[in-house]
Amino acid sequence: MNKLIKIVGGSLVVLAVGAGITAGAAMVLSERKMNRVVDVRVARFDLGAFQPNLERGEYLFLTRGCSECHGVQGEGRVMIDDQSSGFYIHTPNITRGGGAAATYSDTDWIALLRHGLKPARTPVFVMPSEDYAQMADEDVAALVAYIRALPAAPEKKAEMRIPLMLKAMYAFGVATDASEKIDHTKPAPARVPNDLHAQGEYIAKTCAGCHGAGLAGGKIPGAPPSWPAAANLTSAADSVMNRYASAEQFRQMMRSGKRADGTTIAVMPFESLRAMSDAELDAVFGFLKTLQPKASGTR
Ligand code: HEC
Ligand code: HEC
Repeated sequence: MNKLIKIVGGSLVVLAVGAGITAGAAMVLSERKMNRVVDVRVARFDLGAFQPNLERGEYLFLTRGCSECHGVQGEGRVMIDDQSSGFYIHTPNITRGGGAAATYSDTDWIALLRHGLKPARTPVFVMPSEDYAQMADEDVAALVAYIRALPAAPEKKAEMRIPLMLKAMYAFGVATDASEKIDHTKPAPARVPNDLHAQGEYIAKTCAGCHGAGLAGGKIPGAPPSWPAAANLTSAADSVMNRYASAEQFRQMMRSGKRADGTTIAVMPFESLRAMSDAELDAVFGFLKTLQPKASGTR
C-alpha cells in the first residue's frame, strides 16, 4: 500500500515537473512567436488613387466583421469572455482616438489587412486578416477612408487573456495566426469582380477563417472549446447547404440567425452577416451551391 502511494506520488511529482516545464515553455515560446517579425514584401498601392467611397467603406465595415469585433464606432469592445477557459479579449479602439491605428499609414493598413501584420511587422493573433487578404484595392481604400473618418472614441487599451492551452497550441503550431495562413505571394485584385459567381467567391473569402479555406467546415483552430465545429458549406451529402434550397431561405437564415426549425445557430457573426445586401447574400448562395462535395470537417 505504502509502496503504491510512493509510486503514485512519485509519478505525480514527475507529472507536475513535466507540466511545469511544458507550461513554462508554452508561455515563453508563444510570447516569442507573437513578437516575431515576419518578413514579407508588402505590395503598396496608392489608396488615394481611388475616389473615397465612404458609403461602400461603411458597408464593408459593418458586413465584414470589423464592427462586430471592434464596435459599431470602432471604439473597441469585449469580444470573447469565456468563463470556463478564462479566454478574454477586449479589442483595440481603431478610431483616431485610440492608440492602435490612429497613426497608421496606407502601408500599415495594407500590411494589417493583407498580411496580418502590425506596423512593426509582428503578427496579429486573433484578428482574422486571412479573411481580408484578398480584399480588392478599391475596397481596402473605401474601408480605410471610412475608418479614418470615424469620430475619435476615447482610448481603452486592448486586453487579451489567452488560456495556457491555446498558448501551447500556438507555440507548437496547432493553432496559427493569420500571417501563417495567408499566401503572401498571391496578389489581391484591384477591383471587385463584376461577374455574379466571382462576386460570390470574393465575398465567401470572409467565411473561410471559420469554415476553412475549402469551406468544408470543422473545428475552428484556437477557438474556445465551447464553440461547435463550423458547418460544411460544400455540396456534400451531409452538408448544411442541403437545408437551403432557395436563395430566399438562405437569406432568411443569414438575417435571423436561426434555422427553419427555429433553433439558434451558434458563433456565426450575425450582427455583420445580417447587414449584407440581398445582392451579396444571393451571390454567396449561388457560389456555395456550385462547390464540389468535400468531406465534412476537412476545412
Ligand atoms: C474576430 C474579431 C475581429 C475581426 C472580425 C476584426 N478584428 Fe481587428 N482586431 C481584433 C483583435 C483581437 C485585435 C488585436 C490584435 C490581435 O489580434 O492580436 C485586432 C487588431 C486590429 C487593429 C490594430 C492592430 C495593431 O496595430 O495593433 C486594427 C487597425 C484592426 N484590428 C482593424 C480591423 C478591421 C478594419 C477589421 C475589418 C476588416 C477588423 N479589424 C476585423 C479582432 C478582430
Ligand atoms: C466566426 C466564425 C464564422 C464565420 C465568420 C462564419 N461562420 Fe458560418 N458557422 C460557424 C459555426 C461555428 C457554425 C456552426 C453553428 C452551429 O452548429 O450552431 C456555422 C454554421 C453555418 C451554416 C449552417 C447553418 C445551419 O443551418 O445550421 C451556414 C449555412 C453558414 N455557417 C454559412 C456561413 C457563411 C456563408 C459565412 C460567410 C459569409 C459564414 N458562415 C461565416 C462559424 C462561422
